[in-house]
Amino acid sequence: MEKGFGAGQIELKHYAESVFRPVDSALERIGQSIASSGLPQIQVGPMDGRHLEVLSRALAPSTIVEIGTLGGYSGLCLMRGIRPGGEFHGYEKSAAHAELTRRNLQIAKEQEGLQVSIHIQEGEALKALAQWPRDRRVDLVFIDADKVSYSAYLDWAAQHLRVGGVVLGDNTFGWGDVVRVPELIGQARDTVGALDQFNRKLAADSRFLSTIWPTAEGLTMGVKVRD
Ligand SMILES: C[S@@+](CC[C@H](N)C(=O)[O-])C[C@H]1O[C@@H](n2cnc3c(N)ncnc32)[C@H](O)[C@@H]1O
Repeated sequence: MEKGFGAGQIELKHYAESVFRPVDSALERIGQSIASSGLPQIQVGPMDGRHLEVLSRALAPSTIVEIGTLGGYSGLCLMRGIRPGGEFHGYEKSAAHAELTRRNLQIAKEQEGLQVSIHIQEGEALKALAQWPRDRRVDLVFIDADKVSYSAYLDWAAQHLRVGGVVLGDNTFGWGDVVRVPELIGQARDTVGALDQFNRKLAADSRFLSTIWPTAEGLTMGVKVRD
């Protein structure tokens, strides 16, 4: 019998969260700060944050780039895996979101004794990323900003990741609609169509070996296997 991803059972989510307990006090605090600042509560879900932290700790990156930081929830998950002396670079369009990210990551850095330098760049990510030195390699890129730019962010990642480095893109199931792009209209078509293009572009890129993890939102991951 063919089995669907995760079978969409909410009980599985509750099971995973109750067994793995992915939200510790620091992440809880960041979640609360996002809510109390009136920012949209669109950070990654609890288990998605855990996936990011597990991946980052396994990779032990020296340089992480996150595109779309909101208030630093996924940023902290990623930052915890960084090698001592490493760098976390966040790109965030909204001044208020960037400021909250800075504050939250600085608090977590001090409380957890993380040896990392944190750089949060405010503004359009594509414009800011264009300033990144061409020969400066990156170990991990997490894409979680405007969906229509995912393919452009992938181009940037492909150019700057070292071999063995990883690109991650969130929401790549397009809220379940990535399988029916031709039926969509307007903004939904643009947004979900862009996610579909991102998946297909990464899957077809011979520099990467890639997959889509069947998380609640779909988490696309590619490891760079050649330059
Ligand atoms: C889904 S939220 C990020 C959530 C965050 N990664 C987390 O899980 O904690 C998307 C963020 O991308 C930002 N964003 C949207 N378009 C952007 C752009 N063109 N450049 C930089 N950031 C952008 C939004 O302001 C928002 O804070």
